[in-house]
Amino acid sequence: MNKTGIDIDFAAECIQKGGLVVFPTETVYGLGANALNPLAVAKIFETKERPTFDPLIVHISDIGQLNELYEFPINNIVYKLAEKFWPGPLTIVYRKNKNISGIVTADLDTVAVRMPSHPVALSFITACKYPIAAPSANKFGRLSPTHHTHVLKQKMNIDYLLKGDNGIMGIESTVVFVDNNSCIILRPGIITLEQIKEVVSEVKFAEKKYINLPSPGLLKSHYSPRKPLYFIEKEDNSFSENTGLILHFRKASTINAGRIIYTSEANILVEVAANIFMALHKMEDDKNISEIYIEKVIEKGLGIAIMDRLKKACFQYSKT
Ligand code: TXA
Ligand code: MG
Repeated sequence: MNKTGIDIDFAAECIQKGGLVVFPTETVYGLGANALNPLAVAKIFETKERPTFDPLIVHISDIGQLNELYEFPINNIVYKLAEKFWPGPLTIVYRKNKNISGIVTADLDTVAVRMPSHPVALSFITACKYPIAAPSANKFGRLSPTHHTHVLKQKMNIDYLLKGDNGIMGIESTVVFVDNNSCIILRPGIITLEQIKEVVSEVKFAEKKYINLPSPGLLKSHYSPRKPLYFIEKEDNSFSENTGLILHFRKASTINAGRIIYTSEANILVEVAANIFMALHKMEDDKNISEIYIEKVIEKGLGIAIMDRLKKACFQYSKT
């Protein structure tokens, strides 16, 4: 029987005993284990049913923990980014301390670290007294959970589910790689390139050829609902009664479809980001819906991260 609740001390005890705890962060729920206990970390992969090992993000609650995770001396850019964006949805990949097990980092010589800002996450990590390795708390290739019920429906083998459904933004963190004096965005997220530029002058998106990592987050197909998902194209305007529509703007004209969910009334991107996984989960669970159509957003600012996730979710059904 999985245990679900708000008992932070019990959650920390589970971690200290080498167990798995799902906990809320301000982006999505994470599936956590003690990052310094390779056996506990291995259980994450077993529970997630990941076909290959993928490097995990290590979550901290205190900047001092960087010393046991990154190689010394730590580049000043790392500190600049941490000072500006932590606690918050920025993950910094940097050369790792030799003590970090290969199972956390998929044997790369770097490690990804972030300090989440969700108050439950911060209290939990502090209580654990260990850095917490955690991917998003979904089975491999499935939608990321933004509500504790999304975690429950995946029936994962965990020791505790720490609840905290308020304040979840719904898109995973921005992942940046810091090397020498530059900063490369490996995964777009809540924090935009423009925001990062305010602290680091040299920042760019990774070119595809640069990315040669065993990382599903970077694959073309990922984060998919278990029903066909398509983008709405301009010419689509009539849908069957088994079609679910996800829209980001309330239109004056009537649209026929089985069900319509609005992520925002007026295309406000933070609202779209916060509600998009929730909308996909609802359509996935709705027995009357057999296919889903979703509107695109403009690929600017936060829209880049939203479209990145949606393209991956739609990939296997893409009509082009
Ligand atoms: O918002 C988030 O980042 C959530 C919450 C739980 O913190 N976590 C999350 O974890 O999305 P996950 O495992 O689903 O995605 C982590 C991404 C993957 O694309 C992985 O390949 C990349 O980070 N990553 C982790 N370590 C890396 C490394 N050393 N080098 C390059 N990419 C890395
Ligand atoms: Mg994930």
